[in-house]
Amino acid sequence: MNSLSAEIITELTAIVGAERLFIDEEVRKEYGHDYTEDLSFPPAVVLKPQSVDEVSAIMKLASARLIPVTPIGARTGLSGGALSIKGGIGLSMERFNHILHIDENNLQATVEPGVITQVFQEAVKEKGLMYPPDPASKGSCFIGGNVAENSGGPKAVKYGVTKDYVLNLEVVLPSGEVIWTGANTLKNSTGYNLTQLMVGSEGTLGIVTKIVMRLIPHPMHDLLMLVPFASAENACAAVSAIFKAGITPSGMEFMERDAILYAADFIGEDPMHLSPTDQAHLLIEVDGNNLDSLMTDCELIMEVVAKFDCGEVLFAEDQAQKDQLWKLRRKVGEAVKAQSVYKEEDTVVPRYELPRLLKAVKEVGKLYGFRSVCYGHAGDGNLHVNILRDEMCEEDWNKTVKVGVRELFERVKAMGGTISGEHGIGLVQKDYMNIMFSENHLDLMRNIKKVFDPEGILNAGKIF
Ligand code: LAC
Ligand code: ZN
Repeated sequence: MNSLSAEIITELTAIVGAERLFIDEEVRKEYGHDYTEDLSFPPAVVLKPQSVDEVSAIMKLASARLIPVTPIGARTGLSGGALSIKGGIGLSMERFNHILHIDENNLQATVEPGVITQVFQEAVKEKGLMYPPDPASKGSCFIGGNVAENSGGPKAVKYGVTKDYVLNLEVVLPSGEVIWTGANTLKNSTGYNLTQLMVGSEGTLGIVTKIVMRLIPHPMHDLLMLVPFASAENACAAVSAIFKAGITPSGMEFMERDAILYAADFIGEDPMHLSPTDQAHLLIEVDGNNLDSLMTDCELIMEVVAKFDCGEVLFAEDQAQKDQLWKLRRKVGEAVKAQSVYKEEDTVVPRYELPRLLKAVKEVGKLYGFRSVCYGHAGDGNLHVNILRDEMCEEDWNKTVKVGVRELFERVKAMGGTISGEHGIGLVQKDYMNIMFSENHLDLMRNIKKVFDPEGILNAGKIF
């Protein structure tokens, strides 16, 4: 639905007001892309509602007139979940940008979906509290997008992902009805867990308008170390050994050489001082309240990594150096994108299988003729595989690479892994869902979608 009738535009204007409805091409184009490849699917109209009642009225109208609706956050997604592939209404949640309440007595906060994740983290930190999920795009992504994709980030290895913090959600259903999915309690065995069904449902079941998050006390100290390896597979093998030694780091990130080179070039700094023999690095953080015990953890980590033939370990001396190292790590995705159009795969395997996964990526790349840059959340067994287009022709990019990715995903499944750890399925991974699930299993999921959205208006064409 690439244009809407004048009558529908009039009705939508009556709901949100002319100043929050946009039909000019420039705005539609802007809201028609996210961080996924170079894809562009502009909606017919962009709406920026600012109350639950407005969202409800929009959904009622959309249901009655069968208008596709795509919820849009900060458009930092990597699976095309916010792209308006059916045209219709692009529902930007950016006006829902308030932290409504930080409840210091219960260690909870109620927040709107358009709040930037880092803004939320900083607000709770001022009260000595922590909201751990920290995707690389935390400085610009919305907390609602994090809920939609069940985002993770480096801290997930110790603290878990978005789902582990969501207690309760206010949701506008496609019919326009407004529900709260659960309760603001730490325990809840009352009926089906619709809260957790909504988390990670990629905007296909309802529009989240309020989120109640669990918080934890902010740890007092953290230490950061950077460990170089002459062999990328050794770096991967060291990861599970560290956990087996009894340490749970609060960050355990892997970057192969090219990831570091591109990111250093992109940010114009080289905090790693890469040597010609370094093939990969682990960035390892530990946190807690007792500095002495963190030091002991680091010593133990040093003993483990030494067994994997690591180079000289760098300890971040101060906050500025920590920030610089984390900045480099967070910028890898953007830096690779600046080199070439790429497809970002989000493979995840049981942690011990990580060396096998890396090997498989490189083998499949050789077989199908693509170059990849790998990095990611090694402690979770979650490897981001950026396949670069470079000079590849249209045919190879659109067909051959797809066959290669399928083979990679099949190998991932055989290792006990899955095809997305934190970026979601959205648009670009949906063709691969049949690797993970039988038709019956997929039908079960499609039927859940139908119960929530019988007319199929909400973010249709995603996931399945
Ligand atoms: C990262 C994003 C791409 O980890 O998930 O950098
Ligand atoms: Zn990531």
